[in-house]
Amino acid sequence: MARIIKAAKCLSYDPDFAMSLFETKSNILITCGRGISPYLAMELKKTGFTVTSEHPYGVETEGTMCDAMTLNLAVRTGQRVLYRITSQKARTPKEFYHVLRDLPWEEYIDPNEYLTVTSVVDTQSIRDSRFANLKAKDAIVDRLFAEMGRRPDSGPERRGATVHCYWKGDRCDIYIDTSGEPLSKRGYRVASVEAPLQESLATALIMASGWSDGEHFVNPMCGSGTFAIEAALMALDRAPGLLRNSFGFMHIKGFRKSAWKSMRNSWNRRSKISAGIRIIATDIDETAVAAARENAEAAGMESFIEFAVAPFQETTIPVGRCLIMINPEYGKRLGNQHELEEVYRRMGDFLKQRCAGNRAAIFTGNLHLAKNIGLKTSRRLTFYNGGIECRLLCYDLYEGGGKKRPPSANREVPSSFHRSSEDKVNRE
Ligand SMILES: C[S@@+](CC[C@H](N)C(=O)[O-])C[C@H]1O[C@@H](n2cnc3c(N)ncnc32)[C@H](O)[C@@H]1O
Repeated sequence: MARIIKAAKCLSYDPDFAMSLFETKSNILITCGRGISPYLAMELKKTGFTVTSEHPYGVETEGTMCDAMTLNLAVRTGQRVLYRITSQKARTPKEFYHVLRDLPWEEYIDPNEYLTVTSVVDTQSIRDSRFANLKAKDAIVDRLFAEMGRRPDSGPERRGATVHCYWKGDRCDIYIDTSGEPLSKRGYRVASVEAPLQESLATALIMASGWSDGEHFVNPMCGSGTFAIEAALMALDRAPGLLRNSFGFMHIKGFRKSAWKSMRNSWNRRSKISAGIRIIATDIDETAVAAARENAEAAGMESFIEFAVAPFQETTIPVGRCLIMINPEYGKRLGNQHELEEVYRRMGDFLKQRCAGNRAAIFTGNLHLAKNIGLKTSRRLTFYNGGIECRLLCYDLYEGGGKKRPPSANREVPSSFHRSSEDKVNRE
């Protein structure tokens, strides 16, 4: 049984901390959206974690539940931080039940906690992940009743202890979901507009664009402000997890509020006071700008972002190096194709005429519309937004009719970044 690997002390400042999962090392899987793992791996390395493997939907490392707490605070591009309890053989639902029934849940979960089980299954013996959820939930509840004389309440809301099962072929991995709600739910989205970007995807796109220190960030068509808010959080080095009050690890035995408070305080002290750059967000729709302002306020970022109601062509372009980041409507979910062709043409003109000497990145799910921009891309990267295959189109906006390169930013992109297959052959 490949259970917990080895013990390590991680909270030396809390001597009362009981020996628990919070100080026991195991495999940690941080899941993410398709195409995002190179950026997630880069984040982990920056935070001091060793990446032990990288998959299309996640990145693995090793650590204690304390390390999982750090990851929940720090990670911008991930979705869930899963701490592995065990990895075992399970060929049938009965074997699966017994794997779970034999685990010492009484050491991990108080029966007074609310319990949620989630599963991903890819095995011959069952097709429906809901059946796996039920089997796993029964096994945990039966174990707790046998050991503690009480059954926890259970259901789908991830507001208590959350257990995740990944059953592929004849192997199942059982995890504590230390995040509970996905990390992309930062807690600042108090107002929304149609088609907002998911926060973790927005951050990955900003990272992929190579936005660097000292570059102003300009976001026409800001919608609910996701790009601008994520950019401000990044520029100020503010950990996104500081915005949230609830995580799955808070419902696992051994969690100490005092340790969490110290950890939050030390991350709070890291935040910069000012990024020394301008972050500008505009939209033609005043309801969108009002929503973006409200969200920025909830994130504590409103004083770092300059908002304005304006058509994209009238957005202020500050003096100095700028990244212009745009997520226009792309017809599959919003907007009318013919009108949008014209919008994309005008967007190209705006970039050529008003933004020369800078860099731009346009995120769209419609390559046909993108052809209307009429500029040569420097890079085209593939991402997925709600199941739609999209591109991040990056442009170096040369000055003086294409001769002079924009002042080059100190770009940091993962070495394994994913170029689209058309990268070489289908440049505009
Ligand atoms: C796909 S949404 C952007 C969503 C945004 N990324 C978010 O996370 O909420 C596109 C936005 O472009 C705005 N828009 C459309 N045409 C515009 C124009 N001509 N000038 C400025 N904004 C425009 C819309 O009002 C809408 O808010």
